[in-house]
Amino acid sequence: MLTNKIYIRESQNEDFQDIMRVEELAFGYPKEAQLCADLLEDPSAKPLLSLLAFDGNKAIGHILFTRVYLDNRASNQPLLHILAPLAIVPKYQKQGIGALLIQAGVQRLKAMGSELLFVLGHMDYYPKHGFIPDAGAMGFQAPYPIPAEFANAWMVQSLKGEIAEKPKGHILCSHELNKEEHWRE
Ligand SMILES: CC(C)(COP(=O)(O)OP(=O)(O)OC[C@H]1O[C@@H](n2cnc3c(N)ncnc32)[C@H](O)[C@@H]1OP(=O)(O)O)[C@@H](O)C(=O)NCCC(=O)NCCS
Repeated sequence: MLTNKIYIRESQNEDFQDIMRVEELAFGYPKEAQLCADLLEDPSAKPLLSLLAFDGNKAIGHILFTRVYLDNRASNQPLLHILAPLAIVPKYQKQGIGALLIQAGVQRLKAMGSELLFVLGHMDYYPKHGFIPDAGAMGFQAPYPIPAEFANAWMVQSLKGEIAEKPKGHILCSHELNKEEHWRE
């Protein structure tokens, strides 16, 4: 049961253990916690946005947005981000906390001037939060080929302007997230 003390704020260095705990509890194994630890230290992931949701003083959810790049050799790289991962501790799932974290992130990324937001995720969840399935069909190839039956899981939403007018190309993630192990099921 949620109290009325839910709030969201950007994480600080001293929140690191809370991030690790939330990620491990949500996924039930440590891979995403380690990915967060690596991304928080990855210069090519910056500017990044790391948000924690709290119930009172207890961290219950975490979302991370890191920088991605267009591999079209354009000298003028637009500011683009990817959402990965999103984690809500089991007791707090299905109460709208994930939705709140996505909305808060989208708002802040817009304020930062980010233009597009990508995600590889659940096809019946993210479209409810502004993501358009099959970003590949719109001209944004994923870092690694996505099998045809999962094409809709690679999604994009515009944070600024029309997607049709954006430069297209192969999306490359930051050094840590671009490792192939994060793109295999
Ligand atoms: C997937 C995950 C991030 C979703 O977060 P969440 O906070 O549970 O998601 P939400 O509450 O916003 O939405 C989930 C469902 O709860 C429903 N819901 C939202 N608020 C609700 C409320 N107050 N009461 C009941 N149900 C509610 C939503 O409608 C949604 O259901 P639907 O998909 O059938 O429409 C979370 O379950 C999680 O951390 N899972 C483990 C890790 C993981 O898989 N992460 C995703 C990687 S892509």
